[in-house]
Amino acid sequence: MDDVKQKPFLRTIRSFVRRTGRLTPGQQNAFERLWPKYGFDFSSEVIDPTVLLGRSAPLILEIGFGNGESLVEYAGKHRDVDFIGIEVHSPGVGHCLLQAEKENINNLRLSCHDAIEVLEQQIPDSGLQRLNLYFPDPWPKARHHKRRIVQTEFLDLVARKLAPGGTLNIATDWENYAEHIDLVMDDHGAFGLRERREHGGKRPLDRPATKFERRGLKLGHRIWDWEYVRL
Ligand SMILES: C[S@@+](CC[C@H](N)C(=O)[O-])C[C@H]1O[C@@H](n2cnc3c(N)ncnc32)[C@H](O)[C@@H]1O
Repeated sequence: MDDVKQKPFLRTIRSFVRRTGRLTPGQQNAFERLWPKYGFDFSSEVIDPTVLLGRSAPLILEIGFGNGESLVEYAGKHRDVDFIGIEVHSPGVGHCLLQAEKENINNLRLSCHDAIEVLEQQIPDSGLQRLNLYFPDPWPKARHHKRRIVQTEFLDLVARKLAPGGTLNIATDWENYAEHIDLVMDDHGAFGLRERREHGGKRPLDRPATKFERRGLKLGHRIWDWEYVRL
C-alpha cells in the first residue's frame, strides 16, 4: 500500500506523437547558430525569466507554436512583452528560429520539449501573464480524446502558473473540441470567461492567424476563440 502511495506520478498519456520530420539544412544550421541565443534546454530547475530574457517584463507563454510564424509576428508587434514558445516538433522550432532572426526578435525564448514538463518544472508559479494555446491537436477519434491537452489536470497546472488576473487564450477549429473545452473550462473553478467568439476566420481574438487555422478554414471549419481570466 505504502509502495503505491510513494510512487511518483508518471504521466503516460501525452498530447503529441513525435513526428519524424527531418530538419532541412537551413533549420539544422539555425539550431547550431541560434539555439544559444533563443533556446533553453529542459532541466528540472525553475528558470528565472528575468535572467533568461535579460529584463523584467510581462511574460506570455505559447504551447505548440507549430512553425512559429504567428508567434514571431505577435512578438514583433509587442516588443515590450516577453515570450516563451514551446514546441516538440523540431523542424517547427528550426523554422521559428530563422523567422525570429529575420525579424530581429529579442523578446522570445524557445523550448523544444513537452510543454507539460516545462510548465511543471521550469516555469515559476504565478509567473505568467498569459498562456496561449492555439489550435491544439484535436485528436478527433473518440478513443484518442484522452490525449487532448485541455483536461482538468492541465488546467490545474495552468492555474498554478498564471498570475491572478492573467489569461488563458485558446483557439480551435474543431467543433467537438470546442464543446469539450466549453465543458471542461466551465467545470473548473479557477477561471472566468472573459470572451468567447465563434467566427468564420475574420475575428481572431487578439492573435494573428495561424497555419493550422488557415488549413481548417480551407476545410470549411469554423473557428472558436476564448479568453479566460485566472480568478
Ligand atoms: C495542430 S498544431 C498547431 C500549431 C500552431 N499553433 C498553429 O495553429 O499553426 C499543434 C502543435 O502542438 C504541438 N504540441 C502538442 N502537444 C505538445 C506538448 N505537450 N508540448 C509541446 N508541443 C506540443 C504539436 O507538435 C503541434 O505542432
